[in-house]
Amino acid sequence: MRILSIETSCDETSVAVVEKINDFQVQVLSDTTATSLAVHAQTGGIIPENAARAQVEYIIPVISRTLENASPNKNPIDFLKHEIDAIAVTYGPGLIGSLLVGVETAKTLAFSLRKPIVPVNHLLAHLYANFIANQTPHSSLNIQHFPCIGLIVSGGHTDLLYFRSHAEYQWLGGTRDDAAGECIDKSGRLLGLTYPAGPEIERRATQVTNPTIKFQSPLLHSTDFDFSFSGLKAEVARFVQKESMTNQLKNEVCYALQKAIFDVLIAKTLKAAEQFGVSHILLGGGVSANQTLLNQFRVKSSELGVSVFSPERTYSTDNGAMIGAYAALNYEPIPWQKITANPELYFA
Ligand code: KG4
Ligand code: ZN
Repeated sequence: MRILSIETSCDETSVAVVEKINDFQVQVLSDTTATSLAVHAQTGGIIPENAARAQVEYIIPVISRTLENASPNKNPIDFLKHEIDAIAVTYGPGLIGSLLVGVETAKTLAFSLRKPIVPVNHLLAHLYANFIANQTPHSSLNIQHFPCIGLIVSGGHTDLLYFRSHAEYQWLGGTRDDAAGECIDKSGRLLGLTYPAGPEIERRATQVTNPTIKFQSPLLHSTDFDFSFSGLKAEVARFVQKESMTNQLKNEVCYALQKAIFDVLIAKTLKAAEQFGVSHILLGGGVSANQTLLNQFRVKSSELGVSVFSPERTYSTDNGAMIGAYAALNYEPIPWQKITANPELYFA
């Protein structure tokens, strides 16, 4: 089965052609991502209208390029008509204007070409980036991951789930306020770093060899699986206002911030793995691109005999291939008339 998949929930316009290999793997034949990040870096965050306007401009060229690359020797329209079995699209959660661009484009393709269409929850798709084959050795090659614990850590969400098998999952907990990535980006803004701040905070934190400051790790010892990061952001704000911020001190704040966030992410995920008796953890979402987080996860989980998987960096942040992966492995097409963009979509 071959799927053309579309992701436009936030600032990326990303399209992929993926092919199902087996019940646990898909292969990416081609994928293209256009981003309006430069515009958002200027405003220090995403202005929804700017994101959607760029997506309206990008969506057709991105689909066209993806089809051309998937099958260089064929006419892209013929390839789409005759060799794509279904269309998949993110229908939520996300920014309404952005979601509409992808959803309406996907519905138009499904209607005009009489193809089945599969609506995909963006959050679940982040974890399904682990089912994309041919990634680096630490990722998903030939492994059946279920049962597992999934941790989604992105700019908009922090959620912990227990999966028995495909589509059979239980939500365990999530953030009560800001997401981990949101805390990172807002703290980065307080430090005067470019949006999104995750990669620079990671780079700066690695410069610190003798840390001298510490922030509280929120809800580290609570008995539930919830997270909370808005207090941590406020702690960073108070620190930055109080101190005169040298470059070295900024690096230290980055280190302490990462440590406070990562300690609680790792502790609660491993607690869930122990409680549910699983030996696999899947990470997904932009923050899971962080190598320090991954290394610490691996060290601590190996002590418990648990393996941690994370997608390649390009598939950690928003991308069309993960939407195709979810749709191929949970193939449930519905009539195009029934699909509506849902910015508030969460877990069933
Ligand atoms: O998954 P994603 O692309 O978009 C959402 O669905 O939200 O995640 C974006 C988030 C941003 O908060 C960004 O700062 C963070 O992922 N991020 C990172 C890193 N790369 C991206 N956070 C920490 N370390 C990184 N290397
Ligand atoms: Zn995302």
